[in-house]
Amino acid sequence: MQRRKLGIDLEVSALGLGCMGMSEFYGPRDDEQAMRVLEQAVGMGVDFFDTADMYGPHHNEELIGRFLATHRPKVQIATKFGIVRKPGEYRRSIDNSPQYARQCCEASLRRLGIDQVDLYYVHRIDPSHPIEDTMAGLARLVQEGKIARIGLCEVSAATLRRAHAVHPVAVVQTEYSLWTRDVEAEVLPTCRELGIGLVAYSPLGRGFLTGRFQDGTPFEEGDFRASLPRFQPENIASNRSLVDVITALAVRKACTTAQIALAWLLAQGDDIVPIPGTRRIAHLQDNLGALSVRLEPGDLAELSRAVVALPVAGERYTEEGMKGVNV
Ligand SMILES: NC(=O)c1ccc[n+]([C@@H]2O[C@H](COP(=O)([O-])OP(=O)(O)OC[C@H]3O[C@@H](n4cnc5c(N)ncnc54)[C@H](OP(=O)(O)O)[C@@H]3O)[C@@H](O)[C@H]2O)c1
Repeated sequence: MQRRKLGIDLEVSALGLGCMGMSEFYGPRDDEQAMRVLEQAVGMGVDFFDTADMYGPHHNEELIGRFLATHRPKVQIATKFGIVRKPGEYRRSIDNSPQYARQCCEASLRRLGIDQVDLYYVHRIDPSHPIEDTMAGLARLVQEGKIARIGLCEVSAATLRRAHAVHPVAVVQTEYSLWTRDVEAEVLPTCRELGIGLVAYSPLGRGFLTGRFQDGTPFEEGDFRASLPRFQPENIASNRSLVDVITALAVRKACTTAQIALAWLLAQGDDIVPIPGTRRIAHLQDNLGALSVRLEPGDLAELSRAVVALPVAGERYTEEGMKGVNV
């Protein structure tokens, strides 16, 4: 397994595993199947699992906790706090207070059955709460050994600088893929300047960049993509053009569309670790195959040209969701 360094001292497999979909958002869950995927991932050398307290709440951390009971030394765990959600409700609010961080961290440690979280993220930034206060609270959790490192999700470059001045930020996690490249403008250069790693979430465009969505593809019960602008039928039809370019390249490289999407991200820098999510062993194997796909400069240029020529139709979140990014 190829390895990558994130920030100063976190070294992980070049591809991590996004565990969110094993609990909700993309259709029904199957715990036994999920456990087999986790087992297989570790067997194939993946040692970086991504979860959050609000996935399922709190099903995803409990699932990972079951796995960690026998596999803790083999995996580095990233989890998150800050989005407040009640079980059974999608409605949410944000709380970045140190008191809430402590309460959530202790609850996550209990659910995961571990005594230290390897990477603890603020899931969404509350613009009305000073980031300095949040970081000071998280720094105390580092001193106490409850968390090893601090990460921030969907943070703006300006907030990142303020946060990093209080305590080193190890990782920024943001959506990054062939159809979501806003991070390249300011956040990624700032990470590079400050020595912060980047974890790319939804690297497969929530499945869209694998080619599995046609404009008439039905969504399963509980699939939240049905509410996302990019997945509305008219936008799917338009966004298929980008997938067609990716698929044509995949045919020429004798690999899969998903592998091209991940290989492109891996080629954007050694400081980037994509965390594709899956509930299926076949997809896990497909995704890890991306590590063997070598994109030449001409291939990368072809993809870049396509992204510029074929602007994505629809935002990546709803209007409300967009308020939580680049904060
Ligand atoms: N910080 C944040 O705010 C945030 C937000 C979103 C996600 N995340 C994290 O990032 C992780 C990954 O993102 P994501 O799950 O949203 O999106 P993703 O990895 O881009 O895509 C996941 C979707 O693609 C499908 N898929 C995966 N591999 C495939 C393949 N080889 N061929 C065809 N389909 C494939 C999955 O379905 P199957 O399950 O059927 O394989 C699932 O529907 C999440 O699990 C979560 O941990 C973080």
